[in-house]
Amino acid sequence: MITLHANGANIPALGLGTWQLRGEECASIVEQALRVGYRHIDTAIMYENEEAVGEGIRASGVDRDDIFLTTKVWPTDVTPEGFDDAVAGSLERLGVEKVDLLLIHWPPKEHDETVWARLLNGAADGGQTDHIGVSNFTSRQLGAMVQASTRPLACNQVENHPYLDQSILRATCAEHGMALMAYCPIFRGEPLFSEPIIEELAKKHERTKAQIVLRWHIQHSGCGAIPKTATPERLAENKDIFDFALAVEDMRAIKTLNVRHERICDFEFSPEWDAA
Ligand SMILES: NC(=O)c1ccc[n+]([C@@H]2O[C@H](COP(=O)([O-])OP(=O)(O)OC[C@H]3O[C@@H](n4cnc5c(N)ncnc54)[C@H](OP(=O)(O)O)[C@@H]3O)[C@@H](O)[C@H]2O)c1
Repeated sequence: MITLHANGANIPALGLGTWQLRGEECASIVEQALRVGYRHIDTAIMYENEEAVGEGIRASGVDRDDIFLTTKVWPTDVTPEGFDDAVAGSLERLGVEKVDLLLIHWPPKEHDETVWARLLNGAADGGQTDHIGVSNFTSRQLGAMVQASTRPLACNQVENHPYLDQSILRATCAEHGMALMAYCPIFRGEPLFSEPIIEELAKKHERTKAQIVLRWHIQHSGCGAIPKTATPERLAENKDIFDFALAVEDMRAIKTLNVRHERICDFEFSPEWDAA
């Protein structure tokens, strides 16, 4: 496992995403993930699975201190009136004293970076989180947040996969010492896994297509990925990517897929994304 060192945070580069996992299924997958060696779990208040994530963590028997746990506050709660209660509720549902990383899930429409940064810093000052960061922030918004924040930001969690050119954001994160954590890292499988180049590289390296794509992520400096799976057999598959390497020409070949410039998560509340 590679660890990303991002402004004081040590983030395992490969984590488990949990969006759309709920209840017993979620608890069981989190438990099994930790048993096969995952040490990074991603959740959010919006996923409505924090209780189950907490259950899975406790059932695994893995020491809480050995797990990097991230949660996210939904933008409508990023207000002076709503933020503290939102974070307190999150910790209570998870059954933990603090999280390792607290993110603002999407850039809020209300207030500005000064207020958002103050709220995040307050949670860290109050011991509710070790590290703070954002999700779905553009380069411009990231710059403003860095300026406004007393504490350094550890991470920007954004959509990233071979169909999207995130080189501008990657450079901005690197400039600020932050990790870029990829969501939807395998584009949920298809049509990415049917791309001839992904099929060829899977054959060449005798790896699965998911492993080729996940390896591509972590071969970008400062980048990690949080693939989700509800399939126990896929947990080890998605994690076992640290014992082979893609060649420079393999990385270049995968890069050509970004002409498609396609997003899965693009909503009416999305910010004006960085240009490709
Ligand atoms: N910050 C944000 O705004 C944001 C937005 C979206 C997602 N996220 C986070 O990122 C995580 C991952 O994103 P995602 O779940 O949208 O997409 P993803 O991880 O790219 O894809 C998940 C899909 O791929 C399948 N899959 C997983 N491993 C596979 C494998 N080895 N072979 C074939 N198929 C495989 C899963 O199926 P099975 O489950 O059936 O195995 C599932 O349908 C989320 O769970 C969430 O934690 C954050």
